[in-house]
Amino acid sequence: TEETLVLVKPDGVARGLTGEILARIEAKGYALVDLRLVEPDRDRLAAHYAEHEGKPFYEPLLEFMMSGPSVAIRLAGNRVIEGFRSLAGTTDPTSAAPGTIRGDLGRDWGLAVQQNLVHGSDSPESAARELSIWF
Ligand code: GTP
Ligand code: MG
Repeated sequence: TEETLVLVKPDGVARGLTGEILARIEAKGYALVDLRLVEPDRDRLAAHYAEHEGKPFYEPLLEFMMSGPSVAIRLAGNRVIEGFRSLAGTTDPTSAAPGTIRGDLGRDWGLAVQQNLVHGSDSPESAARELSIWF
């Protein structure tokens, strides 16, 4: 088995989609190991998004992530890192496939950052690093 960090980002919490997103995760059969509502400060987000420092969307991304609470989830299951990213769909909600969280529930709001509802770790190394930041 494997663990990943999932975030329901501030747009997902603000739009009241936490339950819908959790329902999809649970229906898929992954196990909720830990879950908390978090209002991250800048330092925590800078650690989380270190790989994106310097990119044009970096500052707007941190501002967006500080705009309201996120739900952080420690999720477990066989191949859950790949599996959750498949459930989430591709980064851009406009082109994310129907049936995915971003494809079904996300849209392009024309803002400086893709408000794409969720985050999921992209590798075992990222998962270990990110879980230690949020839990
Ligand atoms: P996460 O699961 O959130 O990490 O999404 P991802 O792995 O699909 O995307 P990535 O790690 O490349 O980017 C992190 C976040 O930055 C995304 O989820 C978006 O919110 C934002 N982002 C990434 N790329 C772009 C971009 O090209 N333009 C804009 N405006 N935002 C972006
Ligand atoms: Mg990523």
